[in-house]
Amino acid sequence: MNTQAARQDFPILNRKINGIPLIYFDNAATTQKPRQVIDAIVDYYTNHNGNVHRGVHTLSTEATDLYESAREDTAKFINAKSPSEVVFVRGTTEAINLVAYSLGCSNLGRGDEVLVSLMEHHSNIVPWEILSKCKGFTLKYAKVHDDGTLDYEDFESKITAKTRIACLSHVSNVTGVINDVKRIGKVAHENGALMLVDGAQSVPHMRVDVQDLDMDFLAFSGHKMLGPTGIGVLYGKKAILQKLSPFQGGGEMIKEVSYGQERCSITWNELPYKFEAGTPNIAGAVGLGAAVKYLSDLGMDNVFAHEKELTKYAVERLKECNNITLYGPRDLSKKCGIIPFGLKGFSSHETAALFNEYGIAIRSGYHCAQPLHQLFKLESSARASFYIYNIPSEVDRFVEILKELEG
Ligand code: ALA
Repeated sequence: MNTQAARQDFPILNRKINGIPLIYFDNAATTQKPRQVIDAIVDYYTNHNGNVHRGVHTLSTEATDLYESAREDTAKFINAKSPSEVVFVRGTTEAINLVAYSLGCSNLGRGDEVLVSLMEHHSNIVPWEILSKCKGFTLKYAKVHDDGTLDYEDFESKITAKTRIACLSHVSNVTGVINDVKRIGKVAHENGALMLVDGAQSVPHMRVDVQDLDMDFLAFSGHKMLGPTGIGVLYGKKAILQKLSPFQGGGEMIKEVSYGQERCSITWNELPYKFEAGTPNIAGAVGLGAAVKYLSDLGMDNVFAHEKELTKYAVERLKECNNITLYGPRDLSKKCGIIPFGLKGFSSHETAALFNEYGIAIRSGYHCAQPLHQLFKLESSARASFYIYNIPSEVDRFVEILKELEG
């Protein structure tokens, strides 16, 4: 992969922060946007803006074509069998809420169990906690080892005949740990349970094939993969989505609303529109389509290899620094480009503020994953996370600053 050439596509990398060229290491939070994505959105609003699926005029038809071709490209990107299995949502959080509420509405109740892991982002915990209180099902948590890797035996032992759905992040947003979701999915299916994968940190960074991994549901966000904010995807197997109740009601998601005997009877639209109530984020989908094309041109195997190599280089160079502690597994084969750490004598927010003075953007806090931080006995952590435009010289600068701080 030609990283230097790719860097030219990102206008924001010309920014200076405090007079110093920006080094952007906060990619797990959100990624920067290439000119191709920005141009696609500008072109949409400049030349094609109209509402989708509703008009026969030229602009409406063009908007519909752009929106649906973004869906087709996204379906190909994750190797879905059909574009109708790709539901556009606001992001990973909405995708998981959609599954939780739709399933909870008609399929979950007393005696049922839902299983999540302790390494989940809050978006894969909180909706299930809310629904379990409303519907009376039991929510179980699978353990995580001290190094942040999943306790597979514990997860598998907690999948029983009562389990309706097992939910697991593909990659942890705190440690970068990669979970074997195929293995867990197999056990879930053997027990008659569904499997939901939070792909927010995997789909942007590696090849994810929903058929090969036999995923029932996959949730991910556009803004973490070069696309705009406010657009994301819920992938679901067609047969499962067909049985699921709608999440939100309104226009577009119905086939017919007919008034009679003082009530309306309603039939649902076909997939995926049954889950897309109201006017969708058309420009967002167009931007996501451009991002998917950009990543496909780079090749996801190249993207993954680049990040693995950079992470290996960073971890090796960080061994020269005595003032930081790295969290998460030592075995780099189990993780991708996320490096959580603590800096001696500084809180995580002080650490991020300090790096900002040098023009380096990193994340601090508990990264919407408090249970995992509790497990690590940490209030919070600092986090550097890489993407396609990061280069070894940026890691060198990061290490140089750490050494300067050592005195
Ligand atoms: N979930 C995002 C993160 O990990 C915001 O930073």
